[in-house]
Amino acid sequence: MEKEIEKIKENIKNFHPKNLDDLETLKIFFLGKKKGIITNFMKNLKKIPLKERKFFGKIINELKKEIENKIKIFSSKHQYFNKNKKKEILFDPTLPGKAIEIGSIHPISIIKNRIIEIFIKIGFTYVDGPEIEDDWHNFTALNMPIDHPSRDMQDTFFIYKNPDILLRTHTSSVQIRYMKKHKPPFRVLSIGKVYRNETVSSHSNFMFHQAEVFYIDKKVSFSDLKQSIIYMINSLFGKKAKIRFRPSYFPFTEPSAEVDIYNVKNGEWLEIIGCGMIDPNVLNNVDIDSEIYSGFAFGIGIERLALMIYNIKDIRIYFNNDVRFLEQFKSEF
Ligand code: DAH
Repeated sequence: MEKEIEKIKENIKNFHPKNLDDLETLKIFFLGKKKGIITNFMKNLKKIPLKERKFFGKIINELKKEIENKIKIFSSKHQYFNKNKKKEILFDPTLPGKAIEIGSIHPISIIKNRIIEIFIKIGFTYVDGPEIEDDWHNFTALNMPIDHPSRDMQDTFFIYKNPDILLRTHTSSVQIRYMKKHKPPFRVLSIGKVYRNETVSSHSNFMFHQAEVFYIDKKVSFSDLKQSIIYMINSLFGKKAKIRFRPSYFPFTEPSAEVDIYNVKNGEWLEIIGCGMIDPNVLNNVDIDSEIYSGFAFGIGIERLALMIYNIKDIRIYFNNDVRFLEQFKSEF
């Protein structure tokens, strides 16, 4: 019996379970309730004479402990291994990383930022204005009284009627907001969204972007206006850009003009700016003495300007959200 036990000890030492099935076999083989070797030894212990029983009992118990230990160690190793295997699957350093896609700046925002930069350089201040306006700021104060035919130039979307609250039709309303609050002299620009009923407006969209630039001081003249516009065009297109001033009409400026830029690519003139000397009526509406102060103002269509800068054929493309179009502006970062 002693020899047998020695042999079993040896076997256990050399037995290295590879998986849980192996371990189960080991368990049943030694500790199984019916045919397990150790169980059998225990059963047979009774047959051994009392003198030797104690000695063998001890050896068998040691053997049992050894086997149980082995099972314990293996199963905890196995658990640990399994846990870490899961972790390894979650983090595989050999896989290529998930790149975070960098978006692009929308072309309208690029031009907006360029224009702000250009005017900040010559002492202008940037301000924002609300897109929801009341009648007075959008029309009346800008020399477009109720029922005046000039209002027909700009139909829009009304949020309330009486009193009229609407989506601003132009950024010129920012002139009124600013002039009401500040005393001249000032040089200001504002850029933002404006809204029009597309069946009335010549724009293909119910929304587009405008820049509003205005300057009020003593003795501001039309030549100041002209120089500011030429400076902006030269900054954007270089000195070779060809522009022309055409006499025009706006209710809030007198005299008024429109500025076209020549497109060498198709030989056509594109109207991009409305401008003029601020009408004395407008200044008086905001309590600025038109006898002392004069000013110029102009409005720029940002989408149109961007058409020229990027050689874009169709103005609708800006807001189609076509990634193939938008991602072309990545390099602008
Ligand atoms: N607000 C005009 C429009 O939307 C554009 C404009 C014309 C703005 C002349 C001006 C200006 O400041 O002086 O059609």
